[in-house]
Amino acid sequence: MNKVTKIALLGLGTVGGGVYKVIQMQQEEMERKLGTRVEIKKILVRNIQKAALKVKDPSVLTNDVKEIMQDPEICIVVEVMGGIEPARTYILEALKAGKHVVTANKDLLAADGHILMETAAEYHCDLFYEAAVAGGIPIIGPLKSSLSGNHIKEVMGIVNGTTNFILTKMTQENMEFSDALKLAQDLGYAESDPTADVEGLDAGRKMAILASVAFNSRVTFDDVHTEGITKITAKDIRYAKDMGHVIKLLGVARNTDNGIEVMVHPMLIDEQHPLASVNDSYNAVFVRGDAVQDTMFYGRGAGELPTASAVVGDIFEIIRNMAFNCCGRIGCTCYKELPIVPAEETSSKYFIRIRVEDKTGVLASIAAVFGNNSVSLAQVIQRSRREDCAELVMITEAVKDRHLNDALTILRGMSIVRDISSVIRVD
Ligand code: NAP
Ligand code: HSE
Repeated sequence: MNKVTKIALLGLGTVGGGVYKVIQMQQEEMERKLGTRVEIKKILVRNIQKAALKVKDPSVLTNDVKEIMQDPEICIVVEVMGGIEPARTYILEALKAGKHVVTANKDLLAADGHILMETAAEYHCDLFYEAAVAGGIPIIGPLKSSLSGNHIKEVMGIVNGTTNFILTKMTQENMEFSDALKLAQDLGYAESDPTADVEGLDAGRKMAILASVAFNSRVTFDDVHTEGITKITAKDIRYAKDMGHVIKLLGVARNTDNGIEVMVHPMLIDEQHPLASVNDSYNAVFVRGDAVQDTMFYGRGAGELPTASAVVGDIFEIIRNMAFNCCGRIGCTCYKELPIVPAEETSSKYFIRIRVEDKTGVLASIAAVFGNNSVSLAQVIQRSRREDCAELVMITEAVKDRHLNDALTILRGMSIVRDISSVIRVD
């Protein structure tokens, strides 16, 4: 085995900078751990001046990707630039040049993962992406290896730290969404444009990857139904609390007899549920298998060093495979073609908050609309009464989305209904 394994980074931002640091932190033990030293020979960036502040030897920095792709000494390329292009082209080029690839790029994997995996297989290369889902938490590796003796039935996760931080502040400090978002931005958790996080898109990409790996069938971001947390109010959270629940933004993927259900949405979960105590910017993934039963993986879902921990773990795994000439050993595991169940055909219990006119017979009229549309109510509470207006808080039995939507459409057209303030799934 070579005394030095030469690798290249594409990008030296939050994650790339972390990878650089973790590799320095491992210098002393690396040789004993792997039988080789890892040297970062080249780093691709756009702004060399800015990146020079982060490295000991600025001569490793380049603007020219050919210096990496055409260098036969570089055997692993670590893509931590983000975005679809040029990341996609660079990863394909690296694989076609026989270089193994580590990527943290969930956007690309959730859209075009199959193309990357097929190319890796064709060129007998490893393509690892542990950091793409839930940052530092090991979940892709365990699903592909340690849990591969299971039929995975369900994967539920808090896979977005920004929204978990916002909901935690709303729960624990009674903040409204906009104030909690501002705090998340001030503390550097949320981007200046927080859309991908608060609308559930970031979590949706991670759930597409997780569902593909868990159920051995390709799921892309377009298959994931996503709802964000922008409509959740402190009042919803208080009502949920009174009923023994907390509200979390959850990714939920289920392998059912009808196909794969995969969604991201806010959900009331029992305060005793293992995911209920996952707070602040922490992530957790709950996995239910037919043999192992329930397991939960918890930790930091983002950030410089936690994410780099996952990337460096993948680099080390590839080096071990190279040493035993067994790269490509664990490639694409999507050997089934399961259908995706449309969101309207899925069922859930629901928490519904409606403001109605406060007069006799209103509750009966509303209950009749639900009853006529196959929606059974499990709990109904009249919580407040102000200015001729009453607030009804209800929890339904499990109901098909399609039936609930039909009932809500009728209710919205009724003069006794002032507004339907909240409709949130319940576990
Ligand atoms: P970032 O801080 O914005 O860094 C991106 C880096 O890539 C910068 O060094 C940038 O160089 C470079 N870059 C971007 N486009 C480039 C191009 N066309 N040519 C050359 N260099 C280019 O991003 P990040 O937060 O580290 O995220 C990187 C990836 O990791 C993304 O796919 C992200 O989804 C994923 N990820 C991030 C986290 C996290 O905690 N941040 C967690 C899990 C996964 P310049 O600065 O010179 O423009
Ligand atoms: N924006 C993501 C989060 C981190 O808040 O969890 C990057 O995956």
